[in-house]
Amino acid sequence: MSDKGDKIETIEDAGSPAYSQTRGQKFKRHCARRWWIYLIGAILVILAVVLGIIFGAIPKIAQNSVNDSTIQVDGIAITDPSNTQFTISMNSTAHSHSPVSAHFSPQTFEMYLPPAAGQQPVTFMELSIGELQIQDVMTINVSNVVTNILNNDAYNNFSAQVLNNETMVLGIKSNPQVNVGSIKFHVDYQKTVTLKGLNGLKGILLTNPQILNESLEDGTNMYTDGMIPNPSSFTLQVGDLTVDVSAGPIPIGYAVVKNLTLYPGDNHVKIYNHVPADLVKTEFFAKSLTFPNTTITLTANSTVFNGQHIEWLEKPLKDAPPVMAILNPPQ
Ligand SMILES: *[C@@H]1O[C@H](CO)[C@@H](O)[C@H](O)[C@H]1NC(C)=O
Ligand SMILES: *[C@@H]1O[C@H](CO)[C@@H](O)[C@H](O)[C@H]1NC(C)=O
Ligand SMILES: *[C@@H]1O[C@H](CO)[C@@H](O)[C@H](O)[C@H]1NC(C)=O
Ligand SMILES: *[C@@H]1O[C@H](CO)[C@@H](O)[C@H](O)[C@H]1NC(C)=O
Ligand SMILES: *[C@@H]1O[C@H](CO)[C@@H](O)[C@H](O)[C@H]1NC(C)=O
Ligand SMILES: *[C@@H]1O[C@H](CO)[C@@H](O)[C@H](O)[C@H]1NC(C)=O
Ligand SMILES: *[C@@H]1O[C@H](CO)[C@@H](O)[C@H](O)[C@H]1NC(C)=O
Ligand SMILES: *[C@@H]1O[C@H](CO)[C@@H](O)[C@H](O)[C@H]1NC(C)=O
Ligand SMILES: *[C@@H]1O[C@H](CO)[C@@H](O)[C@H](O)[C@H]1NC(C)=O
Repeated sequence: MSDKGDKIETIEDAGSPAYSQTRGQKFKRHCARRWWIYLIGAILVILAVVLGIIFGAIPKIAQNSVNDSTIQVDGIAITDPSNTQFTISMNSTAHSHSPVSAHFSPQTFEMYLPPAAGQQPVTFMELSIGELQIQDVMTINVSNVVTNILNNDAYNNFSAQVLNNETMVLGIKSNPQVNVGSIKFHVDYQKTVTLKGLNGLKGILLTNPQILNESLEDGTNMYTDGMIPNPSSFTLQVGDLTVDVSAGPIPIGYAVVKNLTLYPGDNHVKIYNHVPADLVKTEFFAKSLTFPNTTITLTANSTVFNGQHIEWLEKPLKDAPPVMAILNPPQ
């Protein structure tokens, strides 16, 4: 488009008599009358390009950086278990890169286990995440959120892997709204994270057995100190854990850990043993408790929290192979 000086000139021209005009002049006059149409046209073209960037390129760039981002789960605590819900806390760190200042609106993380080929993922729980400024390092911590179990079968599988596997893979997906200034759009977020599991509670150590002179009211007639290792970053509130105990082929009753919460690391617990009455009084039994490095077989029988059997804890523990604990481990 011509500059301002030209425009003023052509507008003055507009007053000239029509008969003296050449073709060029006619065209010039036409342009002069219609200049605003061209201006609007140009603005529309520029707008279309800008909108194309906003609604086409920016979301694509954003989706790319979401795809390139990583997430690491630093800790998950599952407490207050019941058969329909539980309380969850999660600390996680996401690494991302955004070329512009942007934030996620509040979003919902859906958790699933990576499905077998050709199958759809089944979400077993959802976790609401607050608004999140997109930064190179983002801390995503949630604490004490009461969460429903959305699918029992899928959640049991999750719990079984957490309890019994050395490692497990957790899928997280969401469809958050990204806000770049006043521009808003959604991106697909889908990540898997590999987490350490409790590995079947392998490595339980038993020490300091004490036969009670008088049984407690609940029938406990021996105490033992126990150390239950938890190599994962899961915290699991289990409740009262009951296990059947045997030494080789000889059953020696059952044992209870009351109000058990398994924290990451070594868990030192008091064990309430119920040894058959005729066995506990024998000299042989008392003597055998002093033998070093004795293998004791523990088979999970039940978990009870708040007077309720918690199926998703009890079943995987019962289904798992027995735990070989060591009584009087070598120092
Ligand atoms: C982002 O990853 C998803 C799969 O997770 C893929 O379908 C999509 O095409 C990717 N998008 C971009 C822009 O790379
Ligand atoms: C999250 O981090 C806080 C602060 O370090 C810690 O107190 C809390 O136990 C952690 N939660 C989980 C679930 O790991
Ligand atoms: C969030 O979790 C991390 C551990 O992943 C911890 O270091 C940090 O203190 C936690 N922040 C808050 C506010 O709890
Ligand atoms: C749970 O695991 C079993 C056995 O691996 C499998 O057959 C089933 O499809 C899984 N269920 C869900 C919902 O993932
Ligand atoms: C978990 O462990 C069980 C038995 O130890 C094994 O069969 C299964 O494949 C493992 N699952 C995963 C996802 O690693
Ligand atoms: C059991 O009784 C004996 C004495 O009869 C006493 O030395 C021992 O400390 C008692 N043990 C417990 C656990 O109370
Ligand atoms: C059970 O354990 C939890 C977590 O360790 C603790 O907060 C609670 O006070 C305990 N309850 C009883 C009755 O000991
Ligand atoms: C303890 O027993 C285990 C087998 O149960 C054996 O492998 C280990 O060598 C024993 N350790 C000592 C110090 O005797
Ligand atoms: C073990 O579980 C069975 C049912 O599976 C139950 O009848 C029995 O009483 C349990 N034993 C203990 C010690 O809780």
